[in-house]
Amino acid sequence: MTAITHTIGPLGIAVITLDVPGEPVNSFGASAIHEFDAMLSTLAADASVRAVVLISGKQDNFVAGADINQFVALETAEEGEALSRAGQEFVGRVERFPKPIVVAIHGSCLGLGTELSIACAYRVASDHPKTAFGLPEVQLGILPGAGGCNRLPRLIGARAALDLILTGKTERAAKALKLGLVDEVVPQAILLETAIKAADWLAREGVPKRRRGGGVPAALLDGNPFGRRLVYRGARAAVMKKTRGQYPAPLRALDVVRTGLEEGMVAGLRAEARGFGELAVSPVSRELVRIFFATTALKKDDGVAPGTAKPVKVTRLGVVGSGFMGSGVAGTAVATAKIDVRLKDTELARIGKGLKAALEIVRGQLTRKRITKPEYERLAALLSGGVDSAAFTRCQLVIEAVFEDLDVKRGVLADLEAVLPAGAVFASNTSTIPIGRIAEGARHPERVIGMHFFSPVEKMPLVEVIPAAATGADAIATTVRFGRALGKTVIVVADRPGFWVNRILSPYLIEAGLILSEGVPIDVVDRALVAFGFPVGPFALLDEVGVDVAVKGGKVMHEAFGERMTPAPAIERLLADGRLGKKAGKGLYLYHEGHKTDPDPKAYEILGVKPLAAAPTGDVERRLVYAMLNEAARAMAEGVVRSPRDGDIGAIFGIGFPPFRGGPLRRIDSLGAAQVVETLDELAGRYGPRFEPAPVLREMGGSGGRFYE
Ligand code: 3HC
Repeated sequence: MTAITHTIGPLGIAVITLDVPGEPVNSFGASAIHEFDAMLSTLAADASVRAVVLISGKQDNFVAGADINQFVALETAEEGEALSRAGQEFVGRVERFPKPIVVAIHGSCLGLGTELSIACAYRVASDHPKTAFGLPEVQLGILPGAGGCNRLPRLIGARAALDLILTGKTERAAKALKLGLVDEVVPQAILLETAIKAADWLAREGVPKRRRGGGVPAALLDGNPFGRRLVYRGARAAVMKKTRGQYPAPLRALDVVRTGLEEGMVAGLRAEARGFGELAVSPVSRELVRIFFATTALKKDDGVAPGTAKPVKVTRLGVVGSGFMGSGVAGTAVATAKIDVRLKDTELARIGKGLKAALEIVRGQLTRKRITKPEYERLAALLSGGVDSAAFTRCQLVIEAVFEDLDVKRGVLADLEAVLPAGAVFASNTSTIPIGRIAEGARHPERVIGMHFFSPVEKMPLVEVIPAAATGADAIATTVRFGRALGKTVIVVADRPGFWVNRILSPYLIEAGLILSEGVPIDVVDRALVAFGFPVGPFALLDEVGVDVAVKGGKVMHEAFGERMTPAPAIERLLADGRLGKKAGKGLYLYHEGHKTDPDPKAYEILGVKPLAAAPTGDVERRLVYAMLNEAARAMAEGVVRSPRDGDIGAIFGIGFPPFRGGPLRRIDSLGAAQVVETLDELAGRYGPRFEPAPVLREMGGSGGRFYE
């Protein structure tokens, strides 16, 4: 089978269609490159061909980049360098092709896709929301290795290029046009026709000298060495702020861009290939590539054995409870899944507030130019609310986000079971109540499930789906698919207290509280964990989650797991002072206009803690991290998650466990269970039996076992 086919039209324009057989997207490996080269040679020699148009045969993908599987197979930096060289030479041949090549881009155009496009004479893109450009390589721990670090800055200016290369972000067509990354944006219906016209015109008039730089002021500033130095300095500072130097790829990419602009293309390409090779075999890249494949695999996993369920597509969602979580779910469902949402609460005033908050989330899409004004208006009309349940008769799924009280939730379920249509699923967004308890007494326990969102719903990328013992496969698959329709990564977890994320977070937060009570200042603890790679420290997280929520959850965990989950002393006292965290404008930290500033001296006072000026900080990171690793091992052994993959993705997306460390279970594997046991034993000796290693770790330590094959 062939990935690349072509036709030649009456104007002498050859249209090449990229369509890697058997794959949902076009990713380029050696054989596709080989075919492409052969095709170009044929077309170069064919005198009837005046110009070429390149288009994709895939539905919403132009090119997804180089084939990432190739990187997994690399064993040495030299092999990686050679792979990059091959990519550079391929793109170079495209650039030097003697006839104009016009690319017609619809769908994602990433990595090698963007590198290939910018080497062509002209780029036309569809204005479809799925059309997106970017160099996401740094997210895989590598750098653009097929000339991207060198060609992009020459095309759109150093500043704009670095913004794309160092963050790995993608841009839609309109922004790409503004940046000078594409030349024309048209509706998908006339994409090919427009590209053919452009090719005809270029064949007639010749290819104009390529423009340098897009936005005028930035391009002017970039144009001289002094301006560029400022750009490099700013870019480096931004990378360090975001990554604290823990991710080598963006820093290396910055060096490569600089070499290319200051020393010329040849030196730039050499630096690029070397950087690519070294990064591709680095431990950080290995972890990030694993995470890419794990996340991709989860996109296809319905949480049940394949073929055992008939999931229903949710087109109408009911949400009960119009507080922060309920309105967050409602707004996200409208903004992302673009479906009808009915919000219910007990009072109209509350519903009004909830609808307003939900609408804000949809408006956020407009502000970020993700949707147009008419689209916004269409979406806004999908939201409605009321105090009655009658409007739920056509919902395929209802999510309750009412007060965390078993009787209240059971009451909501009983009320809805009377009106929901056959097959509709009832999902509880609880974080502390067992789903099995909620389902007791239900008429259809097979349709009751848990759906644990994280706050704020529109931003947090993870959802835990929790089937109870009686939940049916159809309900599981329906809920998992709906979570994905909201743009979330979904893991299916067992109906055990704390589920997965809060289970492994609890001992970590408890340990933070204990360390604080020993006099280690709030910000010192937070900084230690940020240095480990968490996006925020435990106390900033506590304020973010809500002290009230954490205290309530903490009690449940204590009850369920006893001694080792004993809540840290005094944290509860913060509640009496209304210190609920960020949402109350006061918690462990002070807040100024909604932004966290310094630790609040009043919080120390309430907790009865005297922060020590020279606190011993040596063990802070170890105590917190090992508390989490130990609990993760225990919960994994109990079957709280179905696989180490789910556990690690849950920790990364739910808590912000540093991705470059691969997740807690992967971390145990890379440290070696025996070493983890040794450290836990040492910590147990020093700080108490809560650090007693999980039995599974002792077992693995003895046998050399691992969580991953
Ligand atoms: N290499 C190998 N496989 C890839 C791939 C790639 N670049 N991109 C996607 N795939 C595979 C996925 O693993 C998945 O495989 P499966 O069906 O066997 O599980 C399949 O294609 C479909 O992918 P998704 O489920 O992710 O499809 P979506 O439609 O949800 O998303 C996408 C499509 C936006 C293209 C997304 O897949 C994506 O972001 N891919 C990675 C893009 C990327 O990182 N590109 C850079 C590659 S590195 C590079 O180009 C180096 C160069 O500089 C030399």
